[in-house]
Amino acid sequence: MEKEVVLVLDFGGQYNQLIARRVRELSVYSEMVPFDISFDEVQAKKPAAIILTGGPSSVHETDAPACDPRIFSMGIPVLGICYGMQLIAQELGGKVLSSELREYGRSQLTLFGDDALFKGVAPHTQVWMSHGDSINAIPAGFAVSASTDNCLVAAFSNPSAQLYGVQFHPEVRHTIEGQTILRNFLFEVCKLKGDWDLSDYIAETIRAIQKKVGDKKVLCGLSGGVDSSVAATMVHQAIGDQLVCVYVDNGLMRKGETESLIETFKNQMHMNLIISDSKERFLDKLAGVSEPERKRKIIGEEFIRVFEAEAQKLGKIDYLVQGTIYPDVVESGTKTAHTIKSHHNVGGLPEDMQFELIEPLRLLFKDEVRVIGEKLGISEEIVWRQPFPGPGLGVRVLEEVTPEKVKILQDADYIVREEIKKAGLDREIWQAFAVLPPIKSVGVMGDARTYAYPIIIRAVVSDDAMTAEWAHLPYDLLDIMARRIVNEVRGVNRVAYDITSKPPGTIEWE
Ligand code: XMP
Repeated sequence: MEKEVVLVLDFGGQYNQLIARRVRELSVYSEMVPFDISFDEVQAKKPAAIILTGGPSSVHETDAPACDPRIFSMGIPVLGICYGMQLIAQELGGKVLSSELREYGRSQLTLFGDDALFKGVAPHTQVWMSHGDSINAIPAGFAVSASTDNCLVAAFSNPSAQLYGVQFHPEVRHTIEGQTILRNFLFEVCKLKGDWDLSDYIAETIRAIQKKVGDKKVLCGLSGGVDSSVAATMVHQAIGDQLVCVYVDNGLMRKGETESLIETFKNQMHMNLIISDSKERFLDKLAGVSEPERKRKIIGEEFIRVFEAEAQKLGKIDYLVQGTIYPDVVESGTKTAHTIKSHHNVGGLPEDMQFELIEPLRLLFKDEVRVIGEKLGISEEIVWRQPFPGPGLGVRVLEEVTPEKVKILQDADYIVREEIKKAGLDREIWQAFAVLPPIKSVGVMGDARTYAYPIIIRAVVSDDAMTAEWAHLPYDLLDIMARRIVNEVRGVNRVAYDITSKPPGTIEWE
């Protein structure tokens, strides 16, 4: 039986991926596609419903983004959000009024009538608005179902044509009953069943991998990050020892990370795991180098060389596992649809090393990857691991990287992470870590003067790393970290806390 699919047509709004995620949270599979997707492609996907997203444009602009209007008469429900709603109004004979003034922030929504979209929603409820234009005449056959003080047409519908629109953003948490409204659209209006289930996804993907791979050999670069760990585990469950994982220990990993990776994947899951101890090789290459981009390049290139050498030892390999996830794949706004290249080379590997790719997470959002990791039995420590940059501690030991500095940073970083975890903040905090700057300062310990490095603690909250706020950690927690670092880590006599958000700072220091 065909799975239910909701297509989300992307008009470039900042919350668009969130719409697809929210729909999936309600157990309906959703896919984001560019707004200018052809009508044939839409039909080929056999959507059960379509959502038109918000976007930065005005319908009055020349070349304003528009979808194929046949979408409105396909006989499936369509929900327009913000710009998407204005587009429905404009295309079907209503009027959209341009305004220089934006309505931005929380508003009080008042409901009229008994529109199915608002079933169970309180008559007055808070919604999140972010728009300039508004609708001032609705198309024939439509009725207004909600208003706010600043926006008379905050929601409209034409139930017999199965067309709905909301000016506010139901996908944003500030819209208190946003999820109820989306649920109503899927289950009251579209009458869907909700058949998107991650356990089914695992079983189907495992079957597909088995069919694709047959008795061939598969290689996976395991970094210890969430995505590569979950991808490798899924492929391992499909084909067992035909999968070989290579972990490159570049000496720039966090304290305990290599050990925990060996414990999980080799000892507990019995994966075929090759550990390439390349610590000295990386540190030799980094000696005397202090420019951040140069360091990144050296680490990246060296990784490719080590990985290539390990792969060559294994003989003929047919497939390579990649932990690509949906946000890496999806393209937005005016860009054309992503063409999936199943046969291509992987960044930096030489031309004669051609693999076919296996990307078992390609359709998934990060939170879904974590749920799948848990279902596959991967430890919480790995599944909930915070993001960690590819060049590792190489970009957190500022300027020149030496073995001595890496050791100091690993020890201090371990304390920061341990205390964040003890305080129960590790899932709330996007990233928390230590940074070692290339300076020394004077201190006093016992009766003696010290001249040693400071450690900078960096902790941020964020949704996607594009912007981040410095985490307002409790003073007591900072105090414990600072005391422990100075007492337990030799070579450190001072601790500072970075209170810069992004922008203007970046999360990492290099
Ligand atoms: P910034 O420092 O730019 O970091 O605010 C944003 C996010 O990206 C991570 N990051 C990297 N990840 N290779 C990576 O794989 C890199 O070179 C790199 N630099 C930064 C960073 O940890 C944060 O999550």
